[in-house]
Amino acid sequence: MESRKYTLRIQRNQKQDDGSIASEWQEFTVEGGETTTILTLLESVKGYQDGSLTFRQSCRSAICGSCAMRIGDRTRLACKTHIGSVVDENGLVSISPQRNQPVLKDLAIDIDPFFKKIKEIKPYLLDGPESDTQVGASAYDQVNNVTQCIMCGSCYSDCTMSEVSENYLGPAALAKAFRFVSDPREGKKTERLKSLSEDHGMWSCVRCVQCVATCPKDVKPMEAIVKLRTRGIEKGFIDGVGQRHAMAFHNDITNTGDLNEFTLLSRSVGIFGSIAELGVAFHLMKKGKIPSPFPHKAEGIQEVRAMYKDLEENPLDVETKAAEVEPE
Ligand code: FES
Repeated sequence: MESRKYTLRIQRNQKQDDGSIASEWQEFTVEGGETTTILTLLESVKGYQDGSLTFRQSCRSAICGSCAMRIGDRTRLACKTHIGSVVDENGLVSISPQRNQPVLKDLAIDIDPFFKKIKEIKPYLLDGPESDTQVGASAYDQVNNVTQCIMCGSCYSDCTMSEVSENYLGPAALAKAFRFVSDPREGKKTERLKSLSEDHGMWSCVRCVQCVATCPKDVKPMEAIVKLRTRGIEKGFIDGVGQRHAMAFHNDITNTGDLNEFTLLSRSVGIFGSIAELGVAFHLMKKGKIPSPFPHKAEGIQEVRAMYKDLEENPLDVETKAAEVEPE
């Protein structure tokens, strides 16, 4: 393996006496091959250049999740990321701690807030009336993806909603919740769905897909959130802005094949909520972006309806292509 010099631009963070964090960027020149991992290079910095550099690591095998940090444009596992895959044309890559969590020192973050969210969803099977002792052969297929999660926090770090909403459960906790809602042995599926339908739960996700892009284990948290939403609606937990918004989309597409944006806002947030958004409406009007109040029927509406009908009658899990396990 040919060796060359690379530059690691590392964010150094130091807690001050008043509790604030002082940050600065520091560059280190390191040597390695294209497939040398970022973790190996960080260890070389710590071993030979600056012993005070602080970061977490343990398994070195993409299993424990402790080395997740921002590398380049997103959060990655340092032990799984090859330097050659992330450097720019000058051989430089920036490394900083995970986002959305308090920084302790350099690249180490306080993981308590993340695990508090995981605990909030009760990550264990609950006894209750919905427990089924007959576990079908395909039951594991439904949760196969989400059980791959190593709790590294990468999805939480790159989640755009967690950035603006401190109380949002976040993609990892919701994916974990899906794992229990989908388990035939779980006794309180409906109770779980009710609680997840409340504020800061599954309907707060803005579907930016960052969690899917960043997850090093291909867990696809957003896909789990979408399935949770479907199950929540099926159980009748429809009293919320997110649910009304989703149902307005569903109704328009099945009725006319075209979204009626003129009435979408009032159907999602109600009349009073719409009044609060009048400023935005005027702004749109000034820019000539007010949608037509007259919905038109899209061409090929019969085909759209046929697709909806088929999916409703034969729901398929997009990942496993197996029939969904229904929460009893
Ligand atoms: S050191 Fe365990 S996942 Fe990287």
